[in-house]
Amino acid sequence: MQHRTASAGKIRPGARWDGGKRAGALLEVRDVTKTYRRGVWPRRRSRHVLRGADLELYPGEVVGLVGENGSGKSTLMKIIVGGLRRDSGAIRLAGQVGYCPQEPILYTRLTCDEHFALFGRGYGMTPAEITGASNEIYDALGFGQWAESRVDELSGGTRAKVNLALALLPDRQVLLLDEPYAGFDWDTYQRFWELSALRRAAGRALLIVSHFITDEDRFDRIYDLRDGKAVPR
Ligand SMILES: Nc1ncnc2c1ncn2[C@@H]1O[C@H](COP(=O)(O)OP(=O)(O)OP(=O)(O)O)[C@@H](O)[C@H]1O
Ligand SMILES: [Mg+2]
Repeated sequence: MQHRTASAGKIRPGARWDGGKRAGALLEVRDVTKTYRRGVWPRRRSRHVLRGADLELYPGEVVGLVGENGSGKSTLMKIIVGGLRRDSGAIRLAGQVGYCPQEPILYTRLTCDEHFALFGRGYGMTPAEITGASNEIYDALGFGQWAESRVDELSGGTRAKVNLALALLPDRQVLLLDEPYAGFDWDTYQRFWELSALRRAAGRALLIVSHFITDEDRFDRIYDLRDGKAVPR
């Protein structure tokens, strides 16, 4: 997490990364590399996952991050939020991040309400703000009836809703969502896009990992993660 605070806030909103780029990026990723290393010599193995990835996110856009399984999408997101160290490169965040990990990270013995209370306090929200935001998200994603149920009693799809809800709770400027609707039914999937449109209209920037070709029209821009680089489409 030290990594995250070190990266965050180094540029002001509206500041330039360099003369050749558009001003006002909320997130700038430059030349990020990452190699996973396993084992010890002589059986040491290296997997070069990111080989100089560049990416930008601006206020009021929904950007897709696509690529085949194992191309490094989740690795890149983990590096941006500071959960994983990069080997080299730079990340500049001009705002705070809400992150929905691909694998739900939840406490099985806590209820949905208890998750909101716990994470909301961690985000520095007041009890009134937590109640307001969680009610809005319960309505938007349609799982209010599970508010007092423990996570270990929930279906996989409802757990995915809680996982996404925790990223949406504090209304952060930048949202990084790693396959957020993988387990959703059609109705919830539609609601997810309505919610994204609202955040976009409020000037938030969303980066969403997707495998669905049908999503392509919903994105303002798409990056294809290929050979360790994020290639704009
Ligand atoms: N902790 C780790 N140690 C070693 N290798 C890892 C580790 N995490 C991921 N990898 C490898 O790095 C590569 C990229 O993984 P990553 O999870 O970032 O891919 P992804 O694009 O998110 O894939 P998917 O679409 O399946 O979610 C894969 O080959 C994976 O096996
Ligand atoms: Mg992934």
